[in-house]
Amino acid sequence: MLLFAVLASPLGVLAYDVYREVLMPGTVFGADPGEEIVRYMGEWAIRLLMATLAVSPASRLFKRPQWVRFRRMFGLFAFAYAVLHFVGYLGMLAGFDFGAVVDDFAKRPYITVGIAALVMLVPLAATSTRGWQRRLRANWRRLHRLVYVIGVLACIHLWWLSKAGFGEAVLYTAILILLLGERTVRMRVRIAAKAR
Ligand code: HEM
Repeated sequence: MLLFAVLASPLGVLAYDVYREVLMPGTVFGADPGEEIVRYMGEWAIRLLMATLAVSPASRLFKRPQWVRFRRMFGLFAFAYAVLHFVGYLGMLAGFDFGAVVDDFAKRPYITVGIAALVMLVPLAATSTRGWQRRLRANWRRLHRLVYVIGVLACIHLWWLSKAGFGEAVLYTAILILLLGERTVRMRVRIAAKAR
């Protein structure tokens, strides 16, 4: 419940900022509030995506296996922020013009990879329950490895759209490489141990 409140708090901050913006237009979000709000949701989507990927390595590093149960909540919030990011784009940047979205999808590679990442998140969110985990067994693990592909697509999204420098793209790509690197090393160690 506490984690839920913490992860939902950026929405509270945003609601307060929107309220202030309505009272004093132009003072909170600058010249383009739509762009700012879309970016804000995107920022939270990628932060929580990386946090989701970091839960397991962190639980091993700090020897806290119980942390793994928080992974689902992080993942669902990453998905929720990505959906809100998309809805914000749809409403505030594309003006609910689906023709414009199709056009963007075809012509703007960062939109193409963004949508691909979002679509891939859908089956992961839908099958995140224990029931689905039991039903799919080994396939659940295989399916949920998609989260690494989603991480890569999200980073490509950042590289392609970075307007004010590549600092953020570099940061998240470095985090992803670290997390993927840890996983690869662990897998190799396990394979080597089995071969012995
Ligand atoms: C997992 C999926 C996604 C993640 C993690 C993500 C993340 C981000 C982040 C962090 C930014 C801010 C970058 C910056 O400030 O330089 C951003 C910007 C943006 N994203 Fe996404 N995104 C995702 C999916 C999508 C989708 C599906 C769309 C639309 C179809 C989209 C459209 C945009 C647009 C238009 C911007 C630029 C907003 C602006 O004008 O500043 N993204 N995204």
